[in-house]
Amino acid sequence: MNTIKLIISLIILLGIVISGCRHDDGRVGEYFYRTDMHDQPTYKPQEAPRDPVEGTVPVAGYVIEIRDSEVADRLENPFHRTAARDELGKRLYNIHCSVCHGAGGKGDGTVSPAFQTPPDITEGRFLDATDGYLYWVIRDGVGIMPSYYEHIKSKERWLIVNHIRSLQQE
Ligand code: HEC
Repeated sequence: MNTIKLIISLIILLGIVISGCRHDDGRVGEYFYRTDMHDQPTYKPQEAPRDPVEGTVPVAGYVIEIRDSEVADRLENPFHRTAARDELGKRLYNIHCSVCHGAGGKGDGTVSPAFQTPPDITEGRFLDATDGYLYWVIRDGVGIMPSYYEHIKSKERWLIVNHIRSLQQE
């Protein structure tokens, strides 16, 4: 009978000692008792993706922040003109811009009387405006003119800028 009491007391004592040594990561003293493979470098359900490695470039490239017209002025038009690009630029201008600016850029588009009349972009300060500035106006909008950030891709914006240059030479 005494032996049983002694064994039970030892088990209780051992339990107290073990629970005192337990760490949250499953260690008991220096011993790892967990073998359920929970702690390993795989994603857990609902776990957020890891931060990308420093210096990682998104596959679609960075979207450059264009803070103001000075930054815009420094952008370089990467698309020299070809007949095919000019054709596409004209089409895009006619689709997106001519409703307000008019096919010739004079500000006489169909909806402009019902809206604010846009400026004639074929003369005055627009002759001196840089390609980067015109690109920025299309991308971010200006005054009450809406931004075409989501509708017109970067390459298309440059081709439209080239078309504005053609209109300015007419
Ligand atoms: C919904 C009508 C509308 C459409 C569509 C539109 N614009 Fe405009 N745009 C305007 C108005 C209005 C202004 C004058 C904004 C102001 O001064 O508040 C303007 C201004 C401009 C300016 C002069 C910016 C400055 O420095 O004052 C340029 C350049 C321009 N638009 C180019 C474009 C191009 C390129 C497109 C097509 C991608 C386009 N716009 C589409 C209405 C429009």
